[in-house]
Amino acid sequence: MGMAKRGVKIDYAYCLEEIIGPQGFTPGRLNELAPAVEAAHQRINEQRAAGKLGFMDLPFQDGVLDEVLEQAARLRSIADELVVLGIGGSALGTTAVDMALKGAMRHALPPGPEGMRVFVADNSDPRFFGAVLDQVDLERTAFAVISKSGSTAETMSQFLVVKELLERRLDKEDALRRLVFITDPQKGNLRLIAEDEPVAILNVPPNVGGRYSVLSPVGLLPLACAGHDVAALLAGAAAMAQACQSPELMKNPAYLLAALNVSFYRQGRNILVMMPYATDLFGLAQWFAQLWAESLGKAQSLKGGQAHTGSTPVAAVGATDQHSQLQLYMEGPQDKLIMFLTLDNYGRDLVIPELYPKIDALSYLGGRSLAELVHAESRATAAALASQGRPSYSLRLPAVEPEVLGEVIYLLELATVMAGGLLDIDPLDQPGVELSKQLSYGLMGRKGFEQQAEQMQALDAGDRFVL
Ligand code: PA5
Repeated sequence: MGMAKRGVKIDYAYCLEEIIGPQGFTPGRLNELAPAVEAAHQRINEQRAAGKLGFMDLPFQDGVLDEVLEQAARLRSIADELVVLGIGGSALGTTAVDMALKGAMRHALPPGPEGMRVFVADNSDPRFFGAVLDQVDLERTAFAVISKSGSTAETMSQFLVVKELLERRLDKEDALRRLVFITDPQKGNLRLIAEDEPVAILNVPPNVGGRYSVLSPVGLLPLACAGHDVAALLAGAAAMAQACQSPELMKNPAYLLAALNVSFYRQGRNILVMMPYATDLFGLAQWFAQLWAESLGKAQSLKGGQAHTGSTPVAAVGATDQHSQLQLYMEGPQDKLIMFLTLDNYGRDLVIPELYPKIDALSYLGGRSLAELVHAESRATAAALASQGRPSYSLRLPAVEPEVLGEVIYLLELATVMAGGLLDIDPLDQPGVELSKQLSYGLMGRKGFEQQAEQMQALDAGDRFVL
């Protein structure tokens, strides 16, 4: 696979003391993290060699790409819409890339020859899921059931609903050909079902966790169905992987990002806001929120002590949230670091007409463009924050294109793993999400979870304090 030229840049001027004052840091202070970065780099290399960091290999998996494209072509030949049944890491990456490339208004457009309309049904909330099913014509719809474990209650309950609907409406063979499972290559309930029923099936590599899986068939299949250039997405990720080889913090963009975040986190900035200046990139901010939160929010350090680490990610969008959250970022507690995502090129623009030359508050806009305005606003917001000693940095994206998104995805994944290394926690597990899952199994009467049902009775506050 050819290497694309890296286009994403990190602008960290507004992190520096010489620019924002004592809340910032000197390059020397950032460099204090260099030995810890190099040690964590060593561990990353060891873990990768031991086959534990599968996401780092995803950009280079040519065979998988062929399989994905073949399956996508099959689904596109029988359906106009794809509904993804998946949640968390099985859903957010698809939404991030599809929303970025087709736009936040994508579902308002009719399906076209360029690709299927993709609905990501990442909640079993019946209002939402029912509404998704209302949107699609079952006879022109395919369903991707995406669950690495094959046991996630939300996804599997949706699958059961869809399976019955399809079988009621279509003959068995036609119903089955509308399904594709994306799951573990060896285990899990979807595998079990596919042993008896001929459903197409693609693998989630066992060494790739959900939130690191967008560049595996988990994201590639729905994105290929949507008509996106998934080879270019992978090429962008490969280019970023190439740029992230060095153990030196100032020569490795992912490590620089990790060091910036960890350094400010240690100074009490325990909220990390990702604020793209493009509505279409809001999904990317939500994808990142999961990646960061689930990877770094940990009770235990690698050495087994108490850690309770992790900065809280917030997904915002500029310019919209200048009129919503910015007041807090400017004047609230000094506990935030802002990561802007800016676009050099929006890919389209609208000229602002010169309609009211006598009204000063409007005439300055006339003849300029909306892209000029949004650029001015992102620069002004970063500068305004800096004037109050509030740090930020920008990921500067040349444009919203598959290669660029591939770069951003890989950059943020590796930065997250490096941040985990610096914080001395495991960024690949998520033990904290188990208890609530098990208690719900208990509540829903799942066999083997009788003890959790009892535990739930003890824990449930009931209706005692309802006003
Ligand atoms: O990142 C993760 O590991 C999680 O968010 C999972 O993706 C999510 O819980 C869904 O799991 P599964 O794919 O097993 O259904």
